Amino acid sequence: MKRVNYVIANWKMNGLRSHRKLYNSINKHLVSKKSNKPNVIICPPHTLIHTFALEKKSKVKLGAQDAHQHNSGAFTGCISSEMIKDLGAEYVIIGHSERRQYFNESTQLIADKIKTAHKHNLKVILCIGELKSEIKNRKKVLRNQLKSLPVNPNHKNIIIAYEPVWAIGTGLTPSLLEINEIHSSIRSILKSKLDFSKKVSILYGGSVNRKNAKEILSLENVDGALVGGASLKISEFSKIIDYS
Ligand code: PGA
Repeated sequence: MKRVNYVIANWKMNGLRSHRKLYNSINKHLVSKKSNKPNVIICPPHTLIHTFALEKKSKVKLGAQDAHQHNSGAFTGCISSEMIKDLGAEYVIIGHSERRQYFNESTQLIADKIKTAHKHNLKVILCIGELKSEIKNRKKVLRNQLKSLPVNPNHKNIIIAYEPVWAIGTGLTPSLLEINEIHSSIRSILKSKLDFSKKVSILYGGSVNRKNAKEILSLENVDGALVGGASLKISEFSKIIDYS
């Protein structure tokens, strides 16, 4: 089954207006490639989405890193899905482990955020992954986290990113064999959602860099990468794009 391949940059709380240069370098790299693959999505801080969206003829797609579960209202400091769409983004990351950890985001809250994002026509990048202490119960943890998916999910508006929490920003990764097996078990958890389980893209994230990307991205069950730290350096990120 051929699935869509993505390379997604999560800039986290990094990036000033001067990062337009990095955005443009990534776009230039993509334009120089003959094929249209992979789909490259940059998720900068909210403050940069509109600046980047104004760039003409960009091949890079834009996403946000989070969105609120409500449509609008008295939620000081929060950003809604509608606002993100209005800024020119097409995607939003929901359920990143840093949101789960530092902002206590639950499966139910994440489900609500996904619903609202879809209502405003944003495509969702749903992050799942176990803590180091949960490795033994990994399948159960992932099954629970996947409960935030809609009842009838659609592969056209959902991407899943498997990111073991202990691999994020640590330089550690599961073995290639493990990554391949975990991705296949995620697909099997979803098997009651027949069409979706076959077609949804499942990306790997957690310490992906130019050195390990080639092997990780060539795994049969890996449909791309979600990249944090290495997405802030053109020399790293362009190589990751090339390997996908
Ligand atoms: P990392 O982050 O590539 O820096 O490990 C990945 C992520 O948090 O999405």
